[in-house]
Amino acid sequence: MFKTFALDTAAWQDHVIDQGWAGFTPDDHAVWDMLYARQVELLCGRVVSEFYDGLAMLDLGAGGVPELGRLNARLEPLTGWRCVAVPGLVPDDAFFAMLSQRIFPVGDFIRRRDQLDYLEEPDCFHDIFGHVPMLAHPGMAAAMQRAGELGLAAIAAGRGEWIARLYWHTVEFGLCREGGELRILGAGLASSFGEARQSLEDHAIERRPFDLGHATAEPYRHDAMQPAYFVAESLDAVITTLLTATVPAA
Ligand SMILES: [Fe+2]
Repeated sequence: MFKTFALDTAAWQDHVIDQGWAGFTPDDHAVWDMLYARQVELLCGRVVSEFYDGLAMLDLGAGGVPELGRLNARLEPLTGWRCVAVPGLVPDDAFFAMLSQRIFPVGDFIRRRDQLDYLEEPDCFHDIFGHVPMLAHPGMAAAMQRAGELGLAAIAAGRGEWIARLYWHTVEFGLCREGGELRILGAGLASSFGEARQSLEDHAIERRPFDLGHATAEPYRHDAMQPAYFVAESLDAVITTLLTATVPAA
């Protein structure tokens, strides 16, 4: 039903583990509920409307850390994407190979109560709440698969930083316009209480019009809030960029 490409899938399956959902404690589920309630309230009117559509279609606010089998039962019929559990960050080649197969890796842990606002490594709240709602959107679902293919091609061409920057400045920390308003698109923003507000409200922060050349030339910070954000014309513009971009020669 959904077109997939026979690109390099070597070894990505080695990173997949059981989610171990039964091992999440009552406190883990309470942390999810607390984070979920806080972000849903904060993001109202601040995130692209397709994000809220995804939250509802996937029933992510049902209570507690989502069990991936139940989540996939809703997600897969919509766009062919499914989530798998991983123990943490996976190597770039495995990560992009997964995306190229419409497989999204999700950390098998959630932050502690004393880490609500800062986390070095993405947890399942970032991975699921931040990313998965947009995977229910057909256009973004196709664009994310294409990001995986671009990632594999870029790494093979020795241009890993090119795809890392493109992904970062769109899928993770991108802003875009919707009906003339500035909205959050990226999962790193949607899942962060502090940075969601900074990205839209801090007058000292630089917001640049998105274009492929500038975004892929711009380094980023993975250990601190971003000093600048790229603003796309629309969600459709981001999707079109990802679907039509080609890896430049090294
Ligand atoms: Fe992410």
